[in-house]
Amino acid sequence: MRTRTIGPVTVSAIGLGGMPMSIEGRPDEERSIRTIHAALDAGVTLIDTADAYHLHAGETGHNERLIARALASYPGDASDVLVATKGGHLRPGDGSWTVNGSPAYLRAAAEASLKALGVDAIGFYQFHRPDPKVPYEESVGALAELLAEGKIRLAGISNASIGQIDIARRVLGEGNLASVQNQFSPAFRSSEAELRHAAEHGIAFLPWSPLGGIGRAGRLGARHAAFQEVAGAHGVSPQQVTLAWMLAKAPVVIPIPGASRPESIIDSARAADLELTEGELARLDAN
Ligand SMILES: NC(=O)c1ccc[n+]([C@@H]2O[C@H](COP(=O)([O-])OP(=O)(O)OC[C@H]3O[C@@H](n4cnc5c(N)ncnc54)[C@H](OP(=O)(O)O)[C@@H]3O)[C@@H](O)[C@H]2O)c1
Repeated sequence: MRTRTIGPVTVSAIGLGGMPMSIEGRPDEERSIRTIHAALDAGVTLIDTADAYHLHAGETGHNERLIARALASYPGDASDVLVATKGGHLRPGDGSWTVNGSPAYLRAAAEASLKALGVDAIGFYQFHRPDPKVPYEESVGALAELLAEGKIRLAGISNASIGQIDIARRVLGEGNLASVQNQFSPAFRSSEAELRHAAEHGIAFLPWSPLGGIGRAGRLGARHAAFQEVAGAHGVSPQQVTLAWMLAKAPVVIPIPGASRPESIIDSARAADLELTEGELARLDAN
């Protein structure tokens, strides 16, 4: 598997998104563990999660605990796997998503994630979503403190505008904003400006829902003809073409396709080795 970097840490060019294994439609634990182990077998060394990836009230950290169990039960060496979690988003249990970006809440959430992941320091912690009631500086300031205390080793932000990226760069200090995680897919391209901004500053950019999201990813080829046609020419899936197209956008891009089945992540991981021509990339950009 080709690699990329998040701050000083080397990770696989394709990560695994953990959300489908813990929210609506989630599989049983046995299938989830097989999916995570298949990702590791395929060379994936980045797993994205969040405390809010759960379904019912009272099971915050469901996905973090699942990943911790999968890493502990992996028969191979999982010591180089970077788990990227997040705080600042909540699920009350009625299907909705709410936010809390107050520094006190983020500190408590990070402490809970430490326990859920079973680690002394969180490898990679991301502020999940801006809270309109809390100045962005204050939310990111909580991450700066957690970094300084050694409770988290890398800090990132998610669902951020260019202005918020620059605030985070300033608050965390130059070089300390490791990543930006925004929605980006063939159907949703409005984060291309943030992708370019991250690339200019050497900040990793993690496209979320890169295949269009849970329940829509399977129809990607039917919705985007050029992706289907390029896939046909290479004898691969349109999902693989999508991920390879993103990787070609900039060396900082690290897509995190979700999966709840081993087959999905095995196929997605192969995108790291798929080379597309300049002509194909231009066609996909225009589709
Ligand atoms: N920061 C944020 O606010 C935010 C928001 C949403 C998501 N995320 C993160 O981003 C990750 C990815 O987003 P997502 O899971 O919402 O959507 P996604 O990656 O666009 O799509 C996930 C779905 O794609 C299917 N899939 C994966 N690889 C495939 C392949 N090669 N061929 C066919 N189908 C394939 C999977 O199906 P199966 O389930 O059948 O395996 C899965 O359900 C999440 O898991 C989460 O970690 C972050």
